[in-house]
Amino acid sequence: MVAPGVQGVPLLPGGAADANVPAVKEPPSFPISPAPVPMLTHTIIEPFRIRTVEPIRQTTRAERESALHAAHFNPFQLRSNDVLIDLLTDSGTGALSADQWSAMMRSDESYAGGRSYFAFEDAVREITGLKHVLPTHQGRAAERILFTATCKAGDVVPNNTHFDTTRANVEDRGARALDLPLKEARDPQAILPFKGNIDPAALDAALTEHKGRVPIVMLTVTNNSSGGQPVSMANIRAASEICRRHGVPIFLDACRFAENAWFIKMREPGFADRTPMSIAQEMFSHVDGCTMSAKKDGMANIGGFLAMNDDALALKCRNNLILTEGFTSYGGLAGYDLEAVAVGLKEALHEDYLRYRIRSIEYLADKLIANGIPIVRPPGGHALYLDAKALLPHIPQREYPGWALSCALYLEGGIRSVEIGTVMFGLQPDGSEKPADKELVRLAFPRRVYTQSHVDYVAEVLAYVKTRSGAIRGMRIVDQPAALRHFTVKMAPAHGALYVD
Ligand code: F0G
Repeated sequence: MVAPGVQGVPLLPGGAADANVPAVKEPPSFPISPAPVPMLTHTIIEPFRIRTVEPIRQTTRAERESALHAAHFNPFQLRSNDVLIDLLTDSGTGALSADQWSAMMRSDESYAGGRSYFAFEDAVREITGLKHVLPTHQGRAAERILFTATCKAGDVVPNNTHFDTTRANVEDRGARALDLPLKEARDPQAILPFKGNIDPAALDAALTEHKGRVPIVMLTVTNNSSGGQPVSMANIRAASEICRRHGVPIFLDACRFAENAWFIKMREPGFADRTPMSIAQEMFSHVDGCTMSAKKDGMANIGGFLAMNDDALALKCRNNLILTEGFTSYGGLAGYDLEAVAVGLKEALHEDYLRYRIRSIEYLADKLIANGIPIVRPPGGHALYLDAKALLPHIPQREYPGWALSCALYLEGGIRSVEIGTVMFGLQPDGSEKPADKELVRLAFPRRVYTQSHVDYVAEVLAYVKTRSGAIRGMRIVDQPAALRHFTVKMAPAHGALYVD
C-alpha cells in the first residue's frame, strides 16, 4: 500500500485521497534484477525522430542521361527533382528542429530593434564573445562587407585555405588571396589529426614579406577547400600570437565552428572533458572577429553574420550593411530567419548531434576505404572528398577527372556531388588556366537529413562506379563565364561519351 500523502497522492482537506488522481499501483513484488553485464552498444544512432518527410524520386539511368545533357554536364544546373541523394552542399540544406520552427513562429518582424535580433545577438555573443554582431543574408555578404572595409588593391590576405567565395571577394578588391596550408596536407593520403591548420612559419614569413600590405588574416574552420579538415586550438593560438606580433587582426571564417570544436574535443590533448560550447568559446577568444555562414553550423536554411571587437571597423561595416543588406537589426533576414539561427547555433553544439554528424561521414569513409576507393584522409567533418586523380589516373588534369567522376556518380546513382579541382579553382584572373593542386569530388552531407541507409546506398553506388572507372573518360569546357566558372560552365565529354569501353 502507498501511504497517503506520499508518492504524489495528495490528501483532500479531510484526509481522503482525491478520486480524480489515479491511485498509485503497488510496486511489483519481484525485484528488477540489475543487468549482469552493462550493455555496450556500438551503433551511433541519429539523435532525432523524423516527423516530417520529404519524398525523394527514383529516376532511370536513361532519365538521368537526358538530365545530364540538359544541364550541359554541370551538376549545378540539374533540377533537384532529378536528384536522388543530394550531396552538392551542406549549406542551407539541413533539416530544422521542432525548437527552431517554434521559435520561428514566435518571431518579431519589426524593422528595427526586433526581439528576434536580440535573441540572435545573444546567441552569437554567448558563443563568440565578440562585441559587434552584424546579421547578413549569408556568409559571402559578411565577406564582402569585411573586405570592402579592410582591403584595397595590392593588399595580401593570408588564409589556411580560402573558400571560393572568400577568394573571389578578396580578389574583387584587387587584393591577393594567399593560401598557407600545411605542406604535409598536400598529400591526400597523409593522416594528420589537424590537417586544416595554417602553416605558422609561412604566415610569419608572409607577414614580414608583405609588411604594411596585409590588412587582415583569415583562418577557415574547418578548412573546407582542403577537405573539411579541422584546425587545432594550438594552431589558432599560434596564428593569433603571430598576428598580434605583427599588429594585424585575425578573423575566423567560422562556418563550421561546431564541427571544428568536436574534432578538438576528440583529437587534441586536454580537451576531452570540455563541452563543445566551451571549446568554441575558446576558439573565438583568440581572434578579433569572424565571418559566418549560418547555413552550415547555424543549422539554418539562410543567414550569416559578421562579428568583431573593433569599434571603428564595426561602424564602417554597419554603414555598408545598411547600404546593401538592410538595417543593422535584420541585415537582409526575416525575423524568423534570425530565430532559426539563434536556436540552431546552440543545437549545432549538442554532443549527441556532433557525435552522429561526424560518425556519419566516418562510416562512409570506412566503407569506401574497405572497397579501395581513394579518399582524402582522414575524412572531414561535413563532407567526404574522393580523390579523382587517384581513381581516374588515366584522365589528365586538363580533362578534369573530378568533373567526370561527379557526372558518373549522378548517371549511375542519381547522386549529386561537386568537383573541387581545376574547374573550380583553375581559372586565373588573366583568363589562363592552372591545374589545381588536387582533383577532388566532394560528397557534402546536409545536416540531420540522411540516414544510415542513404549512406549505405552511396557506398554501393561508389563501389559500382569503381568497377567501371577504367572506362570513364575526360571532359572539355564548351562555354564558361569570366569568374566562379563552376556554377554555370557548360561542359561536354572530351571523347564523345562519358564512358568509352
Ligand atoms: N566560407 C566557407 C568556408 C564556406 O564553405 C562557404 C560556403 C562560405 C564561406 C560562404 O558562405 O554560402 O553562406 O555565402 N560554402 C558552401 C559550400 C557554399 O558548399 O561549401 P555562403
